[in-house]
Amino acid sequence: MTATGIARRGGEANESLPDVKSVIGPALREVVDRLPEEVRRVVGYHLGWLTATGLPAAGGEGKMIRPALAMYSALACGAAVDDAVPAAVAVQLVHEFSLLHDDVMDGDRTRRHRPSAWAVFGVPAAVLAGDALLVEASLVLADSGRPGAAQGVVMLSSAVRRLVAGQCADMDFETRDDVALSECVAMARGKTAALLGCCCALGALFGDGTPRQVECLRRFGEGVGLAFQLVDDILGIWGDPAKTGKPAKSDLDNRKKSLPVVFSLASGTAAGEQLADLYALDRPLSSAELVHAAELVETAGGRQWAQSQADAALAGALADLQSVTPALTTVKDLVTLAQLVAHRDH
Ligand code: IPE
Ligand code: IPE
Ligand code: MG
Ligand code: MG
Repeated sequence: MTATGIARRGGEANESLPDVKSVIGPALREVVDRLPEEVRRVVGYHLGWLTATGLPAAGGEGKMIRPALAMYSALACGAAVDDAVPAAVAVQLVHEFSLLHDDVMDGDRTRRHRPSAWAVFGVPAAVLAGDALLVEASLVLADSGRPGAAQGVVMLSSAVRRLVAGQCADMDFETRDDVALSECVAMARGKTAALLGCCCALGALFGDGTPRQVECLRRFGEGVGLAFQLVDDILGIWGDPAKTGKPAKSDLDNRKKSLPVVFSLASGTAAGEQLADLYALDRPLSSAELVHAAELVETAGGRQWAQSQADAALAGALADLQSVTPALTTVKDLVTLAQLVAHRDH
């Protein structure tokens, strides 16, 4: 289900809102069509448009949360849907780049209910496909011919810089046993919230928003992004793979210092100490040990803490929205989307 679909299911959304996928689809196709053939095959597969052998496929796309944020942010500033297209396409391309590389780094062989791109085409092909999408993201903004294009490229690059720093920290934490909760929150803000903040800011910029609207929406998106990663980490342990399309408990198997895990390790509880012992084992965990590790995180309070932090981040984000616009209908769609992000099951 796409982000617009999620928002519609929320019941509150404006039914006349365009479907994000159909709005950005043609521009996204244009980008993919100009890639070198070998790269195009990998990207087409990753985006769910092609099978592993290059035949047409359907249904393997992402939720389109980032382009939805960009589009609704532009609308909140009084723009037309078309104004938001370069921003919406660019942020989705950066997101797809980050997923292609993330699955390599995390060694995850499943993404969106299918074998991940590197598992099908190999690591070099997946890395190059990601590189190509990152470059195209900046070109989409630069070539848009819009007054905010240059500023948009800088905003997107700054978000990617923070994403890279966040991903570096995420990898570094795997082998550290002294990760502080504040470091972990900073890591999540970098790897995920920076881009979601950028989605909203870029949407506002391309929607001709005032500098104040751009900044309020960036803060809103960043809060939504933190909530997003907190929920992603909950789903990484307790999510149903049939719904998430990602492997069950791979975060625990990879000894990821995800937010609920770090809270539990630092909780000073007996369960936290047992979890630290399991994490210190120098071998893959058995299925029973993975189930036990998840129970320990729950007993130590990590799950409840993560959801309450997601709720708090959502509340802060909604407060940042209040000063954006008097056009409440368009802000209502951002509110609905943010609430669904903080309480999703996939
Ligand atoms: C997954 O993001 C990567 C994270 C930042 C946690 P999404 O859950 O939005 O991925 P898709 O695009 O819907 O598959
Ligand atoms: C999310 O990484 C951040 C980026 C992809 C930049 P994760 O590793 O936490 O996300 P999933 O769970 O694999 O989607
Ligand atoms: Mg990952
Ligand atoms: Mg990762």
